[in-house]
Amino acid sequence: MLGEKLRGGITVVRDYADDLPSIEAIPGELNQVWTNLINNAVDAMEGQGILRVSTRADGDRVIVQLADTGPGMPADVQARAFEPFFTTKDVGKGTGLGLDISRRIVVERHHGEIGIASRPGETILTVNLPSRRS
Ligand SMILES: Nc1ncnc2c1ncn2[C@@H]1O[C@H](COP(=O)(O)OP(=O)(O)OP(=O)(O)O)[C@@H](O)[C@H]1O
Ligand SMILES: [Mg+2]
Repeated sequence: MLGEKLRGGITVVRDYADDLPSIEAIPGELNQVWTNLINNAVDAMEGQGILRVSTRADGDRVIVQLADTGPGMPADVQARAFEPFFTTKDVGKGTGLGLDISRRIVVERHHGEIGIASRPGETILTVNLPSRRS
């Protein structure tokens, strides 16, 4: 799905743990989350950089991280990033809904957590999913 976007100067590094526990989840909804996070990372890197996709277990929880080598998010952007319709992109390029939808899928639909850690040159989005949705 994202092959076209990832072509060119973006290197994808996959770092998947092989001991992940199974969790109860809605795959189609989580695919929307990964799509939104990857799109943001690719947009931020403007065609050049490294996208690291990693998974690991934390007890019976699963942690997924998307890390990019883009410019990073200033503190004021980080503070508002999950607000619906908050975007720094040009009119017609972003609706500002990607992170709002992702947060709702992770937190409200899966009782998980999503967070941002960002500094110039590195942004990491972490999704932490419990073993059960209820
Ligand atoms: N990986 C990232 N690096 C730098 N900034 C980011 C990153 N991810 C999100 N942002 C910032 O957070 C803002 C909100 O992201 P969000 O995905 O909600 O909306 P959008 O990407 O602007 O639009 P949409 O996802 O609806 O197309 C972005 O406009 C951008 O400023
Ligand atoms: Mg987005």
